[in-house]
Amino acid sequence: METRLLELKDYKAAGHLSDADRKLIGEAAEVIRAGGLVAFPTETVYGLGGNALDPDASARIYAAKGRPSDNPLIAHISCIEEIGPLTAAFRSDARILAQRFWPGPMTMVLPKSKIVPKTTTGGLDTVAVRMPSHPVARELIRLAGVPIAAPSANLSGRPSPTTAAHCMEDLNGRVEVILDGGSCPIGVESTIVDVTCEPPMLLRPGAVTLEMLCEALGLEVEKDPVLEGEASPDLKPKAPGMKYRHYAPKAPMTVVCPKGPGSEEAVIRRVRELLKGPGRSAVICAEEHAPYYKGYADVIRESGPAGDLGRAARSLFALLREMDDEKVDRIAAEGFPDTELGYAIMNRMRKAAAGNIEWV
Ligand code: TXA
Ligand code: MG
Repeated sequence: METRLLELKDYKAAGHLSDADRKLIGEAAEVIRAGGLVAFPTETVYGLGGNALDPDASARIYAAKGRPSDNPLIAHISCIEEIGPLTAAFRSDARILAQRFWPGPMTMVLPKSKIVPKTTTGGLDTVAVRMPSHPVARELIRLAGVPIAAPSANLSGRPSPTTAAHCMEDLNGRVEVILDGGSCPIGVESTIVDVTCEPPMLLRPGAVTLEMLCEALGLEVEKDPVLEGEASPDLKPKAPGMKYRHYAPKAPMTVVCPKGPGSEEAVIRRVRELLKGPGRSAVICAEEHAPYYKGYADVIRESGPAGDLGRAARSLFALLREMDDEKVDRIAAEGFPDTELGYAIMNRMRKAAAGNIEWV
């Protein structure tokens, strides 16, 4: 299959859609309606989209990604009216979260209605739904006239794509269209909240933080116990995708985190130690710390100014991809505090490092 890369030039230059951009999005929407696949930007990461109500389209998504078919897809909608047909029950707490955080980087797990095929939901009786805020995603869903099932547009196991170039790397020849709308402004996947249980449960942390969910609902949202520890055979994540190996660069990685505000020097000392040894080593660190690793690491990559969690989230997946491009043998990375957006970043880093985390 030939993959067409459609560049939304005006959107990338000016941040809003021109008629020429809309025309290209219209072509992509036509592909979705015809049962084809389109990779498209959202505010979190790029999605690999197909018609969520068409079992054949979801089967094609699993095949294109090389994804196990028990790992359900998120159905993306463009306005609140589109939720009705997808779910059998929209509880009042779900309504509050929708009002507060949609459109935006939050996905809710809800009881599914009959029209949602079980291929889309990986055999589950629930459906994950998200209304993205990215104008390209919204316009694509609106013009397609159907909810769009979209996992992240990477090959299974690779870091999620945050640019059209990442999508090309993974999906060239596997999808009909890639819509290039520039880099994703958030950079980590949406927060997933299960609203079929009481109280609601956080299944995957994202830019809508646990703190924000608790505040909106006025109660303690629980965390899926798998988020807290190492994967163990007795702990089964409620979001099936959280059990799969993810994001991992080819080289082993260790993440060194500060225990408190005073531990910056200890982090640098420990990272330097980890960089010693044979082969090619790489460090991922705060911009200000880069000079400390000169002469210690062969590859130095900055995750942004220290304390800028937004920048760190935006750059994380691109940096993990670069580690493979650079063919390094060992990676040491500076970690982040485990709260708010830092919690979402650390969730991905923990997986990339296969649980290899040190606190100093
Ligand atoms: O930000 C995002 O959510 C991106 C963009 C494209 O919207 N999408 C995304 O999809 O990250 P994906 O497929 O890579 O991750 C979806 C996660 C998986 O861990 C999956 O197991 C979980 O959501 N999930 C989907 N439906 C579910 C359900 N009914 N119950 C529990 N978990 C579900
Ligand atoms: Mg994914």
